[in-house]
Amino acid sequence: MADTGNSNRENSAPLNGAGALGASAPAPDSASAPATREYTPRFAHIVGWGYQVPSKVITNQDLEQIVDTSDEWIRSRTGIAERHVAADPKETTSSLAIAAARKALEVADVPAAKVDLIICATTTPEYSFPATACLIQDALGAVNAGAFDLSAACSGFVYGLSMARGQIIAGDAEYVLVIGAETLSRIVDWTDRETCVLFGDGAGAVLVAASEVPGGILACELGSDGSGGNALILPAGGSALPTSLETVSSGQHYVKMDGKAVFRFATRVMANATRRVLERAGYTPADVDLVVPHQANLRIIQNSVLNQLKIPEDRVFVNLQKYGNTSTASIPIALCEAIDAGKLHPGDTVVFVGFGAGLTWAACCLDWRTPVERRSTDWWKATRRQATYGAAAARSVFKRAVRWVYDVLPTDPEAPAREDVRERTPADGKEAAPVKPREKS
Ligand code: COA
Repeated sequence: MADTGNSNRENSAPLNGAGALGASAPAPDSASAPATREYTPRFAHIVGWGYQVPSKVITNQDLEQIVDTSDEWIRSRTGIAERHVAADPKETTSSLAIAAARKALEVADVPAAKVDLIICATTTPEYSFPATACLIQDALGAVNAGAFDLSAACSGFVYGLSMARGQIIAGDAEYVLVIGAETLSRIVDWTDRETCVLFGDGAGAVLVAASEVPGGILACELGSDGSGGNALILPAGGSALPTSLETVSSGQHYVKMDGKAVFRFATRVMANATRRVLERAGYTPADVDLVVPHQANLRIIQNSVLNQLKIPEDRVFVNLQKYGNTSTASIPIALCEAIDAGKLHPGDTVVFVGFGAGLTWAACCLDWRTPVERRSTDWWKATRRQATYGAAAARSVFKRAVRWVYDVLPTDPEAPAREDVRERTPADGKEAAPVKPREKS
């Protein structure tokens, strides 16, 4: 992580007495704090953005061939017309995320080596571990970055922005990549018409940068209600219900959803979270220039943002008709398309608001300051950037090879070779029996 030399901790605003820390917490010793250190306010701005979707498109008419549904039903209940699906097995959450992240770095004109932290919000990570964010870090050659996955379902991207803002304002990071990436098609039951029509695959990324320019991400509102966890759940594959023949044969490794419960929850929290985050930033719904909501269902957006908040339609960006619900990726993909469509200008007040499994919800309010015109592509810079990604791939292969060498060679020349260890392991000196799979009782 970057050491900015801007330690704000000693200079933080005075707390309202020791009670603010809890009854038993010691009060900060103001006498020992340096009194005169310069405090430079820091702000967290989005300075780069990019998205990637798989090329394969599945239309509602295609779905009519698979399940008992109709284009008319899907459009009228959700607003969705088509979705992109990772049909190629080589297309994964990380491959989409890497492509989106590279575009975001290109827009910002920042090399991957300058990134301090990579947050990948996803519900379809490449593995339980390692984190998908680490795979992204390796492919980008972000050699100075910490990396972790964030699990807050469809609210994850906004949660990630909140984390990025915190890191930047605390002075712990200069550049944070926040990515939302999904291959939901891999966890959807393509025989369940109640869920398979809703979701799509894709990734969106933004680069959040530290700046002394006032504005950027002004306020965030995060919420959760775990009592509603069963309303949207992937039951099997975790420690509660490890994958087994039974879980697979009963389809417990697919998304299960109580659509009506999620709908009711979503319409309530979208409006409330938006109101609260605007209040915290010092605005009202009338001040908002653009809302980029989670793209789950057009009726949810209409009911909450248009009807409850009275924000006019031309200030709400919707692209779910093309992508369906891409969970964590939906807001950053929509942000990129809103910029491409000329809907966002420096000086605009912008709100991102989402909800999802957990149950979770999140909103953030931005004072957008970054220029949005497309810069002409500099051939030399683009070539150099490609070369750094080639170098990152070579570095990764080299490091794997070094690990492999360490693995096959004894590190201590005095230590017995692997085969010897295996032979000497049992206390009675007999050769250890190879481990057999446990027999079924
Ligand atoms: N095609 C045709 N009919 C379908 C269908 C489909 N794809 N899916 C469900 N139906 C049927 C139902 O079986 C039900 O039939 P029934 O009346 O004979 O029992 C009927 O359509 C009405 O279902 P209902 O659940 O009342 O529809 P709805 O208006 O609530 O819409 C959702 C269903 C899923 C679109 C809606 O509830 C929703 O969007 N919920 C939120 C889901 C969400 O956003 N999840 C992600 C959160 S991040």
